[in-house]
Amino acid sequence: MTLSTMTIMLTSLVAILGPADPPPILIADFESADYGDWTVTGTAFGDGPARGTLPDQMDVSGYLGDGLVNSYRGGDDAMGTLTSPTFRIERPYLNMLIGGGDYPEQTCVQLIVENEVVREATGTNTRPGGSERLDWVTWDIDDLRGQNARIRIVDERRGGWGHINVDHIVQSSTKRQAGPQSVTRLADSQYLNLPVDRDAPVRRMTITANGALWSEFEIRLALDEPDFWVFRDVSRLRDQPLVIAAERLPADSNALEAIHVDDVILGAPMYDEPRRPQFHFTSRRGWHNDPNGLVYFDGEYHLYYQRNPYGWDWGNMHWGHAVSPDLIHWTELPVAIPPREFGDWAFSGSAIIDDGRGAFGSSERPALIAALTSTGRGEIISVSRDRGRTFEEFEGNPVVTHRGRDPKIIWHEPTKKWVMVVYDEHDDERWIAFYVSDDLRAWELTDRVLDFYECPDLFELPVEGRPGVTLWVLSAADGRYLLGDFDGREYTTRSGKHQLWYGNYYAAQTFDNTPDGRRIQIGWGRGITFPEMPFNQQMTIPHTLTLRPTAEGVRLFAEPVTELETLRTAEVALPDVEVDPDKPLTWVGSGAGDLLDMEATIVLEEAEMVALRIFTISLVYDAISKKLKCGDVEAPLDPVDGRVRLRILVDRGSIEVFANDGRIALSVAARPDTDAETVVVSTQGGTAKVVDGRLSPLKSAWTRTED
Ligand code: FRU
Repeated sequence: MTLSTMTIMLTSLVAILGPADPPPILIADFESADYGDWTVTGTAFGDGPARGTLPDQMDVSGYLGDGLVNSYRGGDDAMGTLTSPTFRIERPYLNMLIGGGDYPEQTCVQLIVENEVVREATGTNTRPGGSERLDWVTWDIDDLRGQNARIRIVDERRGGWGHINVDHIVQSSTKRQAGPQSVTRLADSQYLNLPVDRDAPVRRMTITANGALWSEFEIRLALDEPDFWVFRDVSRLRDQPLVIAAERLPADSNALEAIHVDDVILGAPMYDEPRRPQFHFTSRRGWHNDPNGLVYFDGEYHLYYQRNPYGWDWGNMHWGHAVSPDLIHWTELPVAIPPREFGDWAFSGSAIIDDGRGAFGSSERPALIAALTSTGRGEIISVSRDRGRTFEEFEGNPVVTHRGRDPKIIWHEPTKKWVMVVYDEHDDERWIAFYVSDDLRAWELTDRVLDFYECPDLFELPVEGRPGVTLWVLSAADGRYLLGDFDGREYTTRSGKHQLWYGNYYAAQTFDNTPDGRRIQIGWGRGITFPEMPFNQQMTIPHTLTLRPTAEGVRLFAEPVTELETLRTAEVALPDVEVDPDKPLTWVGSGAGDLLDMEATIVLEEAEMVALRIFTISLVYDAISKKLKCGDVEAPLDPVDGRVRLRILVDRGSIEVFANDGRIALSVAARPDTDAETVVVSTQGGTAKVVDGRLSPLKSAWTRTED
């Protein structure tokens, strides 16, 4: 080979490969025991790099080697800065790994040129939970080439996510962070399916439909195998192109590829998952909390509810929606009220029917009106003219502005006005505020009742056995309630605070406009959780509230709605039994099924304690302390004529107990092991009887066969 042929060959090789990239320039990898020439202020950064996770910190991952900057030293309240020596910008990109708080100027990394901050990056977290994972961030610094710069790592924030984690700061010719990535899908079927990995870091994503932002949310998007799929019903966007985009995906990730539109929701058959409650309402996928907008209209009970359509944890608050003809068989419909924008969540509220008594409906065309908290604005009114499926905001929103939330609207017939009870707070004080309106648009503040927190409700009930006597019940999220009078403007308290529900129970609300005038309530079974399942939390059984006189005064009573009885597949009378101390007796053997509606009356006789072990969960009446206990929940309860009467509902995630005809009610998170004997009775201190027993196995509310 001649020299000239070799030169030609080499030149063409270079042409194919391109000139080799200049090597990266490492600014810091934080592998030494100290920070070297970097300048430290404050205490958050300590004397040198951390070796991974610090005490009391969630598991830190994603850093390279052993060391990293971790300003959790001394916890979230410690603050400080860490500043690099001056270096020259010589490459087009600066790559680094970042995790921690997402607070610009407070938990961040800054690039400083001539004393000006010219670039800034933060972690990704602002909420409890989240992830301590570090991810790549890339700054394009090509325009700054040749200039001198410093890096400043800042922790100037106390409290949750008041820290920053950083590692491996490198100047480079290549980017490590991918730009926003997106895929386009046609909404040509009902469901947009998105894969979730419970351990993946939280990412911000957007869905744009035909050029307009349709949803912006946080999601633990699965980068590999999903744990489960979440979905949005996109049938209302039919045939539009959807652009689905994510931030900060690893450059080589094709996680978005898995997202697709289908005519099914991917995953296990719906409502047939092993731990799915069979007669309590749960959302098909994701998290839910408070019931919202409970109202009956045109043959349907509406259950709206606080819903995270994109994940198993609280977040991304939308109004989910389900309807039922009978309070037991629910059909979940698409999200009814999405947040207006990211961070301006659709928080709790209520619904009423405006048939001409307000500014939005008429007797010919009644409108379903939702009143709710838009977290960035205040209390807002949204109007539905399609039987509660979709809502349009009143253009004069917000109608009430304050620090509070959770408006409940009712019609006050004697004064012919609308009344809003709504939670409000200021400094250390918390109260329920009362507003009055002629038209649902303009609201006047008329009263406040101190010492209540979140999700108020107000309703009038007759006192049973006292013809003509009614009282107004004022309640809030923890289930405590007052009895009093209400003249349409002011509430006059006539009792101390009482409690009806105990245990996994929160943020209950009653239905407006029920066809038969029953006062029906549903609560959030807060803490009834389903770790392996694609859904989380359940609602209580809908229950009817009544006011009855007792030896202690008038009290609220709760009993499951009678419609539940339609799920009974049989009704077995159980034998009366006498139980001797320390000689447990199997009252109902195994094989009764795992969904039960049963009754039992304990005749205490000499016993100090009587226990019904239902599967593996014990339900105990302690006759000495006069307490009813189930699992971790206990409630005071006096026997009536030496007896304690129990109605017990057993589902796959809970046991509910209504004692002495609903004088108190317990909602208990429980995972009964249904291989065990169904009911074993035991006593201590003396004999007791168990009488008037009835057992009804229930069928699932999700099977639609009318047998
Ligand atoms: C009660 C609550 C409400 C709020 C909603 C947010 O559980 O905190 O006060 O509106 O949940 O999901």
